[in-house]
Amino acid sequence: MDYRDLFDGIDEQIKLSNGVYTTPINFDNGATTPPLKSVTQIIYDNIKNYGPIARGVGFKGEYCTMMFNKARDIILNFFGLNGNDKYTVIYTKSDTEGLNVLANVLVKDDDDMILTTRMEHHANDLPFRRVGKMVYVDVDELGRINIDDIEDKLIKAKGKIKIVTVTGASNVTGYINPIHDIARIAHKYGALIIVDGAQLVAHKKVNMNGNSKEESIDFLTFSAHKAYAPFGGGAIVGNKDYLNDKDPFLSGGGCVAGVFDERLIWTAVPEKYEAGTQNFFGVIAMVKALADLQNIGFENIESHEKELKNYIIQGMKGINNVVMYGDVNYTDDRIGVIPFNIKNRDYSDVSIVMATEKGISLRSGKFCAHPYVYRLMGASDSAAYRDVVSGELLYGMIRASLGLYNTIDEANIFLNELEYISNNRARKSRKHTGRIRF
Ligand code: ALA
Repeated sequence: MDYRDLFDGIDEQIKLSNGVYTTPINFDNGATTPPLKSVTQIIYDNIKNYGPIARGVGFKGEYCTMMFNKARDIILNFFGLNGNDKYTVIYTKSDTEGLNVLANVLVKDDDDMILTTRMEHHANDLPFRRVGKMVYVDVDELGRINIDDIEDKLIKAKGKIKIVTVTGASNVTGYINPIHDIARIAHKYGALIIVDGAQLVAHKKVNMNGNSKEESIDFLTFSAHKAYAPFGGGAIVGNKDYLNDKDPFLSGGGCVAGVFDERLIWTAVPEKYEAGTQNFFGVIAMVKALADLQNIGFENIESHEKELKNYIIQGMKGINNVVMYGDVNYTDDRIGVIPFNIKNRDYSDVSIVMATEKGISLRSGKFCAHPYVYRLMGASDSAAYRDVVSGELLYGMIRASLGLYNTIDEANIFLNELEYISNNRARKSRKHTGRIRF
């Protein structure tokens, strides 16, 4: 099945280093995704209606306020929560903002413990380091977590772990974590569960209810720009019961019911967490994309992306000098995120050659998940530290991350170029070229 017609901008020609124009290949969907055409259209259609949200009287203001509030129901519906009034949607500008808000609101005491994993993106680790005591579940040699380790840590902590926060799918290896099993374990020991959904929601159906109350997900965060709506939207979907106790992380207009000389009264959730004028276009773009993904159907999305992922992994396994990370034999628990290296070649150099000579966009470096990448590469913490301090930056990988509009033809072009680079080019120094952000 070919989904290319649904997307905007993917066929715009670009100029290669040899002056030839070509249609680019974007295998960097883990970083960001192009918009669906319907998403661009809804932005365009609504420009003429733009007005203040919940701040003014008049047609445009009322229209935008109505769309903005209706969007919360579309998001709840997307996650299987329609009619469940325990849950709310708080708009954010990104998954990172969502996780920062949750860290600041849910962690009540410096002594509270937060359990996370060594698989996480920094966004699901660093915000919690600032507010409580961290407990980490490590990964095995193939980069998976073992949920028995989560239970062991919860037992040992004797009720002090208040939050378990895990990624739904890794941005480095694509592993999909069993979030409902983890929820059941977290709840058994009195902890809440947060799922970082950044890499998950565009690729796999997520029903936050699970099969029972014990399996339900308390909080999930995501960014719309990784789900074909790159206009600055994002959200926290979460249980209102836990969001009332603390002051909001950001404050200003819109989050207060009353302000007096020495005290104030916050508004109710979710507005309490939405200080300042909100991103109307980000929100309408986000819900249009989610509704479209639902219409396309996750069985179709998953089957297309699985075929592509397996085709590329199989192809890469047959290429000399390619080093792959994660499990490349059993891949059913991975979305289409494929990290690799070419022996004795600088990772950043490979991605630059792919981009400038073939128009193939990849990401290279440590993908804002440094501890995980070091583990996958077998680097000790001290070796990793020395590597960064010395500026050598020898540790890093290249990543291909797939989207719904990618095709087998694109996979073939990528595999041919990979084979060419790994077999025919003169070897370059592994000294990092320093052109890529980490
Ligand atoms: N977290 C995004 C990525 O993995 C930016 O590329």
